[in-house]
Amino acid sequence: MKRSILVHPTGRFDNHARTYQQIEAVPIAAAMGAEIRGVIIARLDDQQFDEIRDALFHHKMIFFRGQELTRGDQAAFSLRFGPFAEDAYTRGIAEHPDVQPLIREADARDAHIFGSGWHTDSPFLAEPPAISMLYGVDIPPYGGDTIWANAALAYATLSETMQKLIAPLRVHMSMINVVASVMDYATPGDTPAGRLAALKGSGALPEDVQRKIKGAFHPLVRTHPVTGEKSLYCDGSYAVGIEGMAPQEAEALLDFLAAHLTQPAFTCRLRWEPKTLALWDNRLCVHQAFNDYDGHRRELYRTTVAGEVPR
Ligand code: SIN
Repeated sequence: MKRSILVHPTGRFDNHARTYQQIEAVPIAAAMGAEIRGVIIARLDDQQFDEIRDALFHHKMIFFRGQELTRGDQAAFSLRFGPFAEDAYTRGIAEHPDVQPLIREADARDAHIFGSGWHTDSPFLAEPPAISMLYGVDIPPYGGDTIWANAALAYATLSETMQKLIAPLRVHMSMINVVASVMDYATPGDTPAGRLAALKGSGALPEDVQRKIKGAFHPLVRTHPVTGEKSLYCDGSYAVGIEGMAPQEAEALLDFLAAHLTQPAFTCRLRWEPKTLALWDNRLCVHQAFNDYDGHRRELYRTTVAGEVPR
């Protein structure tokens, strides 16, 4: 029987709130995550924005309650962090092509939902998105939470020997497992997942899906381009191999790292409400959505900020 991985990260947690002039940060868990209070996102000045950006890098995931935001306001806030990223899965709305609706109707019964399974966003791209943001409009009365895990804390709690072992390694990130599960579980229809599911058996995958299946090789240990913090760059959805390792060797190591990264002590969980805006740094954390609100509608809007080649 496999022994469960238990680490005792006492003394390693650093999710305390920093002191800011314009905002208040209220941590929601020991490992990561904070609610930011005292600002109206649709009317931010530069100092407020700088403090929000600092809080994002420190807490990895931050959220705001009670924000009245149009899709245009969300797009404008996202653009303050940088240009929009290439989106791998969804189509934007007509008026704002870079604001993507994430809507699951009350009568949907797909076993596959967008964002299920622990992942970092689109790591199979050469330049994966740096930051992702979601705004809640229609929220189920229960379920539909999102959970995050702190990849910097996960790296910091590895033994020095393991840190040295993985330092030079490059992880192969590919869309292949997600495409396979979408084809198996989604219902053919006019959604991105549905269109892929409809191709099952035809052998005809669109060129851009083939490119994302081919994927990209990235450092298994990333260094944050702004703060210099190191983090584990792997996940249970897209990490499919390690350069120079036999598949069985890579699988054993990636399984260990993914389980280590997503243990409960390293996570925080958000209960959505309408008018909640959450954002996270894909270079510093992984996340997943839950498929646990059948019979209820969930409507959120998503933007992603372009990232850099991981180093
Ligand atoms: C995502 O993975 O970006 C979606 C998360 C969610 O819908 O909760």
